[in-house]
Amino acid sequence: MVEMVPGIEKLLPDMKAWRHDLHAHPETAFEEHRTSDVVAEKLASFGLEVHRGLAGTGVVGVLRNGDGPAVAFRADMDALHIHEETNLPHRSRNAGRMHACGHDGHTAMLLGAARYLSENPGFQGSLAFIFQPAEENEGGGRVMVEQGLFEKFPVQQVYGMHNWPGLEVGRMALRSGPMMASYDVFELTLTGRGTHAAMPHLGTDVIVAGTQIVNAWQTIPSRNTHPVDAAVVSVTQFHAGDTWNVIPASAVLRGTTRTFRAEVQDMVERRMRELAQAIAGAFGVEMSFRYERRYPSTVNTAAETELARQAAARVVGEQALDLDPMPSMGAEDFAFMLQKRPGCYVWLGAGSNEGGRNLHSPHYDFNDEVLPIGASYWVRLAETVLPKSA
Ligand code: NI
Repeated sequence: MVEMVPGIEKLLPDMKAWRHDLHAHPETAFEEHRTSDVVAEKLASFGLEVHRGLAGTGVVGVLRNGDGPAVAFRADMDALHIHEETNLPHRSRNAGRMHACGHDGHTAMLLGAARYLSENPGFQGSLAFIFQPAEENEGGGRVMVEQGLFEKFPVQQVYGMHNWPGLEVGRMALRSGPMMASYDVFELTLTGRGTHAAMPHLGTDVIVAGTQIVNAWQTIPSRNTHPVDAAVVSVTQFHAGDTWNVIPASAVLRGTTRTFRAEVQDMVERRMRELAQAIAGAFGVEMSFRYERRYPSTVNTAAETELARQAAARVVGEQALDLDPMPSMGAEDFAFMLQKRPGCYVWLGAGSNEGGRNLHSPHYDFNDEVLPIGASYWVRLAETVLPKSA
């Protein structure tokens, strides 16, 4: 049984309206200007101290209630480059952009909690409400950290949350240790001697070499990674050739890798390069390999996970907590904040993920039913991590 924070339902019509407004006006990485204005204006109207400019469109609202420890809660504000295919009244007004990951809901829930806590400050200390840009692909969380987020707001802990389709409404999942994977990208360019397709012996074939490399890379998860550890190497692009009867002179392969542990991440990069170098060499093809680290893995710390568990249990009940979920190979740039401060990232059950209700689907829409559950969690978390006000 879900036990909302008393009074939070009164905020539901507002949270819904904010969410629908954000949904109708989605903005992508570092261009969240309208969203940032809306968030800043609301935080100010709740009486919070508002700080703007970190990572450009980032907003931080600070709520103080006497002296005491300081903790940060974080939401993401950005949308995706997806053309929305719903017919909802609040569907996207910005062609090719869509809130298909529920960051509109994350923003609305954290705003709801900020408002509730500003009116009912049962805690002693400070809360920093972080609204970050560019969670998708571009690492707005990293940029905020690099630009001094935790120097400017010296909090002791940081917490995050994501709605999770596939997990029932009224359930939450969290675990100590890795929750989401690292996210890296790579590009391999092969250069050979192009030739007539009927006279392959006169050239060096980048397609044959490239396919051997793709196959060999699949042995990194299966032969180089500990069997109970995890790694993914996915080649997602293979571009070469223009016509039927020419063996092309070059090929470009791109893709992504995922891991949970830094040692595995290092090993994957090293083995990809070694295999590509050796195989290209064996086939007389030149290669250049670029490996770019995007997001580290999202790793929850034990003590803070226990605090998050207590807060979540007060809202959804002990029996509705999944304390050993299978970590996701998806990635999350909250990882950069967790590299600097201990904390916990949780999944909030959002109901069925079927029929286009999954994250990043053009048919997805954040489930408004969970707005008061998520906001209640933030409120209970504030009461759990900070001392009670005298
Ligand atoms: Ni997301």
